[in-house]
Amino acid sequence: MARLKVGVLVSGNGSNLQTLIDLCATPDFPAEIVLVVSNKPDVMALERAARAGIATQVIAHQGFPDRLAFDQAIDAALRASDVEFICLAGFLRVLSEMFVELWHDRIVNIHPSLLPSFKGLHTHRQALDAGVRFHGCTVHIVRPLLDDGPILVQAVVPVLPDDDEQSLATRVLEAEHRAYPSALRLIAEGRVTIDGARARIDDKFPAVAELLMNPLDRPSLPLPNVPGRG
Ligand code: GRF
Repeated sequence: MARLKVGVLVSGNGSNLQTLIDLCATPDFPAEIVLVVSNKPDVMALERAARAGIATQVIAHQGFPDRLAFDQAIDAALRASDVEFICLAGFLRVLSEMFVELWHDRIVNIHPSLLPSFKGLHTHRQALDAGVRFHGCTVHIVRPLLDDGPILVQAVVPVLPDDDEQSLATRVLEAEHRAYPSALRLIAEGRVTIDGARARIDDKFPAVAELLMNPLDRPSLPLPNVPGRG
């Protein structure tokens, strides 16, 4: 069977890209990354792609008169590589409505919060300021509104009393590295249907547990002593 051709848009380190590269390298995985596009030169994400033998392209946004022209160049690059599905992985540009509609239901993003809470930037600061006990990440289908769209996978982490932005970011990033591959697997296996504002997951398969990531499963976290428990 033909593998789903995925294009990944990046701007930086690319640790999420790396998890997708590793996933696609598993035998018989039904998707392959055919192109990585960065709006910034010399970023680690490009190096990761090159190391994996994946074609890369730098399309610097500064070289274009406006967002539409930049998005058209990205669109052309993706189409030239026969890309069928787009993953945003730390891509720091907001895509135009035109682009998002051209690729309707065929773009996913990972956002470092439990949407719809804490959209935009500085999500870990927002979570600390709000005093939430749980935080995490969301993989969602991209819509023209920022950090909006049907949710595919969320992973939850606890917010611990001594957390600062950095420690929370590190914990969330670890969760991202589990959530994004789970989401791409669901997509590649054709198990996602978009139904209005919701993404429905075909649960005839046993992997629905992948959608439910309980932070207290982490053996490294001290559990409170609950009377009556085992
Ligand atoms: C991640 O925190 C992701 O949620 C956000 O940008 C960051 C990218 O990290 N969209 P990396 O480049 O994948 O390491």
